[in-house]
Amino acid sequence: MKITKAVVTAGGLGTRMLPATKTVPKEMLPLADKPVIQYIIEEAVASGISDILVITNRAKSAVDDYFDYTPELEDKLLSAGKTAELEAVRRTADIANVFYVRQKETRGLGHAVWRARRFVGNEPFAVLLGDDVMMSEAPVTRQLIDAAEAYGASAVGTQRVPPDAISKYSSLKVTPLSGRVMRVEDMNEKPRPEEKFSDYAILGRYVLSHEIFDILEETSPGYGGEIQLTDGLKTLCKRSPVVAVDFEGRRYDTGSLRGFLEATVDFSLKHESVGAWMREFIKQKATEL
Ligand code: G1P
Repeated sequence: MKITKAVVTAGGLGTRMLPATKTVPKEMLPLADKPVIQYIIEEAVASGISDILVITNRAKSAVDDYFDYTPELEDKLLSAGKTAELEAVRRTADIANVFYVRQKETRGLGHAVWRARRFVGNEPFAVLLGDDVMMSEAPVTRQLIDAAEAYGASAVGTQRVPPDAISKYSSLKVTPLSGRVMRVEDMNEKPRPEEKFSDYAILGRYVLSHEIFDILEETSPGYGGEIQLTDGLKTLCKRSPVVAVDFEGRRYDTGSLRGFLEATVDFSLKHESVGAWMREFIKQKATEL
């Protein structure tokens, strides 16, 4: 079945990026000249997704405003002949069918995804975490959809992380299938060193069977007292096939200051109008350090 729906989670509080995120949602912080969430939605669209549900909360109205029309601004740009700017603001409003639902309580990623059950219905769907931005040749969500279709399975995006970092992620128990695809046998969320299955961490991308909703409904709070998507997937992988895709590309955790700054540098270097200037600026800086 063709995968056309995606869920983007943007309900987090952004506590790792304070004070900036006190009034600006972390998903709206810019990497070069586009907010974080635009990169994520562009990845979904480039992966063949047409309908996107963003899970927000009461502090994130700037996100739905961003994907709306701005008639006053557009009229001004039109009459000033600023066609490039006009096109840039219109493009964000026409990017996809974007829907919103609020996660009324901060009860974890599993609870956020569960809020999408009415939007998704009985189809497989993609999940993109709102602060994990990817830079890759082939869109990472597309890499997962291809594996999910090839194996008739749900899929999670993974990469190896340094052994001392796995406790920040979910750790996967995997066996090789072919190429970059592995079978998932088990997983655990934020394991202590002695509990980890491997250094393969789930990194921000999923393609899931709708079966996950019934499972999440019955999943008790886990790590941090929150309903964890990982705990739901742990049950799912015992009932139906789940594969892990060691995806090609680089992932940035833009919810952390370091990840955000790395992404700022890398996306600026790739940027059409400032990339070459940024390269020279960094070279010059390096000589001064
Ligand atoms: C979440 C997930 C975790 C995953 C991580 C990176 O954790 O719960 O399983 O490995 O994202 O995508 P968080 O970063 O929200 O603590």
